[in-house]
Amino acid sequence: MLYSEIVMDHFMNPRNVGTLDDADGIGEVGNAKCGDIMRIYLKIDNDTITDVKFETFGCGSAIASSSMATEMIKGKPLADALTLTNKAVAEALDGLPAHKLHCSVLAEEAIKDAIKNYYDTHNIEYDPAQFKESGHSHEH
Ligand code: FES
Repeated sequence: MLYSEIVMDHFMNPRNVGTLDDADGIGEVGNAKCGDIMRIYLKIDNDTITDVKFETFGCGSAIASSSMATEMIKGKPLADALTLTNKAVAEALDGLPAHKLHCSVLAEEAIKDAIKNYYDTHNIEYDPAQFKESGHSHEH
């Protein structure tokens, strides 16, 4: 089978879909090649992610990745969310086909972008190195 049962489950029944009107941080990234877009909304209290929602206009793997990634950062400190890698997301999904790995990169980058947006809009100082490109480019 091409996709794991976990991928299919998160694709068919994605967790945390939607938006947050009172979001503290919003991230948006796109993949130039496939044209898919992902948005992440974070509610943050005391450096902890108290709620998270996502909108993904993209492929099934991107939907499954954002569903899994939001589950992995919900209730967690920002520091933990910042270290979430696309590899960890793909592993939690029981693997993605090699040509679909870039879809999980969108989830990692959208979360980082949302945290950066939170820092920027709340005048919180941070080390910009935390938000360096993870080595994957947006194009492929
Ligand atoms: Fe574009 Fe999966 S093909 S994110």
